[in-house]
Amino acid sequence: MPDRRPLIAGNWKMHHDHFAAIQLTQKLSYLLDRDDYDAVDVVLCPPFTDLRSVQTTLESDRIPMALGAQNCHWEDQGAFTGEVSPAMLAKLNVRYVIAGHSERRQLFGETDDVVNRKVRAVLAHGMTPILCVGETLEEKEAGATAARVDGQVRAGLAGVARDSVAGMVIAYEPIWAIGTGRNATPDDAQATIAAVRATVREVAGDAAASAVRIQYGGSVKPGNIASLMEQPDIDGALVGGASLDADEFARIVRYR
Ligand code: PGA
Repeated sequence: MPDRRPLIAGNWKMHHDHFAAIQLTQKLSYLLDRDDYDAVDVVLCPPFTDLRSVQTTLESDRIPMALGAQNCHWEDQGAFTGEVSPAMLAKLNVRYVIAGHSERRQLFGETDDVVNRKVRAVLAHGMTPILCVGETLEEKEAGATAARVDGQVRAGLAGVARDSVAGMVIAYEPIWAIGTGRNATPDDAQATIAAVRATVREVAGDAAASAVRIQYGGSVKPGNIASLMEQPDIDGALVGGASLDADEFARIVRYR
């Protein structure tokens, strides 16, 4: 079995101003200890306005959690009112950037092509993309999950070097499970994530497929994380709602 370090990321979405973000970061650091950080990579993805505050909190207290962003543009700079560039994120020591979250695809019109540009821009700035893929309820009911996810993975990874794919993170997030309290059974999540890994193998080769970390996301809670993490292909979780509360998120990080 390849040694893929588990990675648990909290996606705060549009929650918490920078004061609340500092408090949550500090509270988490009181709850987690060296053993937790030795076992799991922990990533916090706050809104843009919180990044600098969370960065300084992590760095001044030497808290070994990584900083992540929820989105970015693909250009370094330019006339793109309201956008934030990957160069700006890299300057804040952001290590991970979510690309193509289903809320961005569904509510803000991000296409596979846009998501692919973001993935490549994030890599070009030395950060790690968390490429999100997942099917709608209609697609699931039509038996189209595998085809949908396969297409998103191929499009998201187009033009990305094999070595870069190996260092990436992919998050399988069935859209019907996000924020709904419903989640894929561990067996179903495992089956789709194994299929994602098979697609990665076809497009980027064996080494990338066995190194790439693939998370499950969608209503991950303290009560279901352990059964998901037992699955051989599930390497972590992208956690929304339950990452907003320090106690809940700490219990998820300590699933083992
Ligand atoms: P959820 O969100 O945990 O609230 O379902 C997951 C996500 O959107 O990343």
